[in-house]
Amino acid sequence: MVVSVSSPASAAGRDVLRQGGNAVDAAVATAFALAVTFPEAGNIGGGGFMLIHPGRRGRAGLAEPVVIDYRETAPEAATADMFASADAAHPPSSESMVGVPGTVRGLALAHRRFGHMRWDQLVAPAVRLARDGFEVDADLAAALNAALARAGNFPEFRRTFAPPRSGAPWVAGDRLVQPELARTLEKIAAKGEAAFYTGPVARAIAGTVREGGHGGGGVLTEEDLADYRAKVRPPVRGRFRGFDVYGPPPPSSGGVAVVEMLNILESFDLRRDGRWSPRTLHRMVEAMRRAFLDRAVFLGDPDFGNVPVAGLTSKLYAENLAAGIDDNRASSSEKLAAASGVTIEANSAESPHTTHFSVIDADGMAVSNTYTLEQAFGGMLVVKGCGFLLNNEMGDFNPRPGHTDATGRIGTPPNVAAPGKRMLSSMCPTVVARDGKVVLVTGSPGGRTIINTVLCVVLNVLEFDMPLRDAVDAPRLHHQWLPDTIAMEPALRKGHPEAVEALRQLGHVIADKSPRQGDAHSIAVQTDGKYVGVADTRRSGAAAGY
Ligand code: DON
Repeated sequence: MVVSVSSPASAAGRDVLRQGGNAVDAAVATAFALAVTFPEAGNIGGGGFMLIHPGRRGRAGLAEPVVIDYRETAPEAATADMFASADAAHPPSSESMVGVPGTVRGLALAHRRFGHMRWDQLVAPAVRLARDGFEVDADLAAALNAALARAGNFPEFRRTFAPPRSGAPWVAGDRLVQPELARTLEKIAAKGEAAFYTGPVARAIAGTVREGGHGGGGVLTEEDLADYRAKVRPPVRGRFRGFDVYGPPPPSSGGVAVVEMLNILESFDLRRDGRWSPRTLHRMVEAMRRAFLDRAVFLGDPDFGNVPVAGLTSKLYAENLAAGIDDNRASSSEKLAAASGVTIEANSAESPHTTHFSVIDADGMAVSNTYTLEQAFGGMLVVKGCGFLLNNEMGDFNPRPGHTDATGRIGTPPNVAAPGKRMLSSMCPTVVARDGKVVLVTGSPGGRTIINTVLCVVLNVLEFDMPLRDAVDAPRLHHQWLPDTIAMEPALRKGHPEAVEALRQLGHVIADKSPRQGDAHSIAVQTDGKYVGVADTRRSGAAAGY
């Protein structure tokens, strides 16, 4: 079964499973297909994290779950303060925001180690979708129209994504055909990752960044591309009520933060109070506040400094944090920060674009994959003649070293840019297992809200025994330490007004208006072994199984 934001991409993965491919083969096919059918975030010019759980020991040479880290890196010429003078009036140029893409090497690494179908067979569905086109749905039509409206300075973008009838916008049912992307994918199918990281495509990427013409400042070179490596890392692992919870390690903050929050919440009997009781919501928010403070203080690329993962995810540490939660009063983010030595000077809203998909094969091997261009369509830079978008992931580094403010802009040291360094992510592809068998595969887009979306889904299933459909549909909330405000989905505010009022009485500040949170395409395995795939209806999406 494959669950993703795009029906043709889920079908591409499902067909690979049907042909005898394992979960990694299907994930590779789905990821390439999404680069065609979901250009907002599906990509070959970005990066992400793939968590692979073998299902049972010894499958595909894999004894334990692993993470393929294919996060982008900063180019060699990057500096710590390259974005320090940028502000809303003078944002950095799209060229200067491009990190070295990791997706193609990441997918190739996953395939080489754990796949067993031929590489070209896995890229082929994406080639077909790009060459022959596919029907855009209402969401993609709307996203393309919105992007084209702000694409004045991006002629390659306008050309690549031009609506079929000139002068008329995209509507659902139109066909998007991408011949240049098809040719790039054909090269990758035939020659593998080298066709992307060296030769004409690499030259075109470096040329696009160098000559982009949107204010300059692009420093990514062909050497940066040739030097990029994806990495295999052990996942972060936590235990919650007898379940094993696996998430991505740094340079993502996702796994550490989710495990830290689950550890804190395990100290309480949430079930007794109920999912929507003010006390449960308060405790969740207090756990979020503490995990996000630790994220700012401690987390960054582990290849560039010591990241205390074991300490942050230990039960003892969580017990201490839980003991500091007052059930009768909201904590102050500022006071907690002072105790951690962080000085706050005074909103960094993150747009909801990135995409997550979940895969499980007939033997129970699972893949949880989240990847992104950072913002929707990245920085709108399409590589000249190659038909694909580049990321603007450099924006995930702390922009002004030393400057942390109450709006959520963070300047703490672990996530300051340096050559070759991976920027801190919140992406959190997650797998939950019991006795070595997968029970849940989940993850989400949403910038920093990703972490709390995953927490909500995992708690709904493990602590509150919700069926997966209800667990994904249930309204979500988000607190990220700074700003010291709770964001709530409209359905939570409407459905539980007394709980919201009770939170206010405890001293919490609740944002006036918050958008929908996340897009968690998930799979659960029932106790009878049956797979349940749930596409999150906050956007379009589809489960495909056979
Ligand atoms: O890696 C990250 O955490 C972000 N670049 C993800 C961006 C994202 O989810 C954008 N949409 N909200």
